[in-house]
Amino acid sequence: MWLPCGCTSKYVASSFARRTLASYLHVSGRSRCNVAAFMPEAAGLEGVSGRAALRELSVSNSESFWAAVARHRLCWSTPFHTVQDCDLSRGKIKWFEGGKLNVSVNCLDRHVHTCPERVALIWERDERGSEMKYTYGELLEMTCRLGNLLRRHGVKRGDCVTIYMPTCPLAVASMLACARIGAAHNVVFAGFSADALAERIRDAQSSTVITVNQGVRGGKVTELKKTVDTAMQSCPTVKQVFVAMRTDNPVTMTARDIAMEEYVFSYHDGDVFGCVADIGWITGHSYVVYGPLANGATTVLFESTPIYPDPGRYWDMVERLKINQFYGAPTAIRLLLKYGDQWVNKYDRSTLKTLGSVGEPINTEAWEWYHRVVGDGRCPVVDTWWQTETGGICIAPRPSDPDAEIVPGMAMRPFFGINPVLMDTEGEVLTSNNTSGALCMAQPWPGMARTIHNNHQRFIDTYFQPYPGYFFTGDGAYRSEEGYYQITGRLDDVINVSGHRIGTAEIEDVVNQCPAVAESAVVGYTHSIKGQGVYAFVVLKKGIDVQEADLSRQLNGMVSEKIAKYASPDFIQFAKRLPKTRSGKIMRRVLRKVVESDLEGLGDLSTLDDPAAVQEIIQGHEKLL
Ligand code: WT7
Repeated sequence: MWLPCGCTSKYVASSFARRTLASYLHVSGRSRCNVAAFMPEAAGLEGVSGRAALRELSVSNSESFWAAVARHRLCWSTPFHTVQDCDLSRGKIKWFEGGKLNVSVNCLDRHVHTCPERVALIWERDERGSEMKYTYGELLEMTCRLGNLLRRHGVKRGDCVTIYMPTCPLAVASMLACARIGAAHNVVFAGFSADALAERIRDAQSSTVITVNQGVRGGKVTELKKTVDTAMQSCPTVKQVFVAMRTDNPVTMTARDIAMEEYVFSYHDGDVFGCVADIGWITGHSYVVYGPLANGATTVLFESTPIYPDPGRYWDMVERLKINQFYGAPTAIRLLLKYGDQWVNKYDRSTLKTLGSVGEPINTEAWEWYHRVVGDGRCPVVDTWWQTETGGICIAPRPSDPDAEIVPGMAMRPFFGINPVLMDTEGEVLTSNNTSGALCMAQPWPGMARTIHNNHQRFIDTYFQPYPGYFFTGDGAYRSEEGYYQITGRLDDVINVSGHRIGTAEIEDVVNQCPAVAESAVVGYTHSIKGQGVYAFVVLKKGIDVQEADLSRQLNGMVSEKIAKYASPDFIQFAKRLPKTRSGKIMRRVLRKVVESDLEGLGDLSTLDDPAAVQEIIQGHEKLL
């Protein structure tokens, strides 16, 4: 959960990152003019010419770089007195101390001051062709009204409001309204189940929830309000639930529920940034809401799915909304390329300037298709690497030199202020090129996470303990001969299904709740569309006699219900036992090799308790395929 109240530095960086993203997403000479005009002025660095030199300086003298950018690009109600007070060896991250700003003022008021009629949001509703546009003026009004409503109902500075809504203007206004009154927001992805929602509400200690009666996605209605009602059974702290109407269908209201009215819309033209992420994920926070709005851009809120009502949806939308930059996930690209080029070619994509990719490695086939078919070979594809914890893009093929090559499937170059290093298994920095290691960051930057809510020790243990003095990303990376970075994947037991990261332990936790299950182990395997799929090994309790097919269905249902549909296993293999070390740890490395059918790569089995367990697992796997 992010805390957007007051002067959180995360959003400071997001806004800047978006600006630079916007700059490099333009391919024309205009972008260079923008950057040339903006950067030296921003940084007070008239002597520095070219983006490569500027990036160099952003790392070697990061303090004056970020100070100048923060002063130039943001409105502060109280100026900061200390640029930074960070110590990575202790996980201490402090930026712009003494400074105060309001992120909603930065996203709205200053643009309303200069251009109130500019379109801020284009809501690409699920029903094709029914898009709605909101100006900065309208968004400010909606945000202020909501802020007042929340305040009238007792929400105050420091409270945490849970937002359980689909990607829509009211959700954006709710985020900004919280930020405006100094409350934190806890945006929960609308695909999450009642249990997952309840857990997040409890963790955030929210007393206020904002939701809609029903959601619509891919033509299907989802009962969001009913899900909230179910979650409420285990959330005694919640005092009020605001309910807006996304559809016309009334829902049962309880004493706790407060109906919200709908607002005025109008239509205007504007520049259009089309990031199709859901606001329930960090990409939506940084590149749908805060980044674009802080920079006065027009942003698209995509409510639907890439294949509703047909696989041409994205490109039809690009034509209709005249989208200039399209930012999406490899999983969707892989899905769409299977349907064929005709779904793309039907539509006019001439407004597109650049195509962005985020969330997982983009494989060569998908990259080529995105570039050749979607972008007609004329739009650069930028593979952007970053994480929830980094707040914004960290490594991407930036046009520090607009003529520089872009290598397919490579995030390539570190962004301003980002100083990546690769570590070997001994914790030593690898200095040469053409090498792989654990990806760490040697310097802090304003957008990085500063803590884990209610668990600062976990923050330190996870990100700063593994490589003292460095921020550990958890990813592995390769640095090429030319010094470009390629992300190779997660180093820990987290899998990435369709761009959604999920800990294998979370899925095991649910599977293990089934009374018939003794234990389980979940691993990811390479999936041609989803990036990774979920493969579960399940050991039944002794004496249990069930049909495996029935139990599989039951387990899939449990995972869908308790976590989300995407987490539900593609394969469930029943086994007598799991391969374990003598100290009792499941050897996941071995399981991963088995599901990838890489028996050559099983590696060192000397710590294995009983080698026969591996043979059984291999046989079971072969039977299942
Ligand atoms: C993890 C972060 C970034 C916002 C959406 C996901 C993987 C992300 C790339 C990329 C290869 C990537 C990493 C990272 N990832 N972008 N361009 N190439 N891998 O945010 O849920 O915090 O996940 O996604 O493994 O650590 P997240």
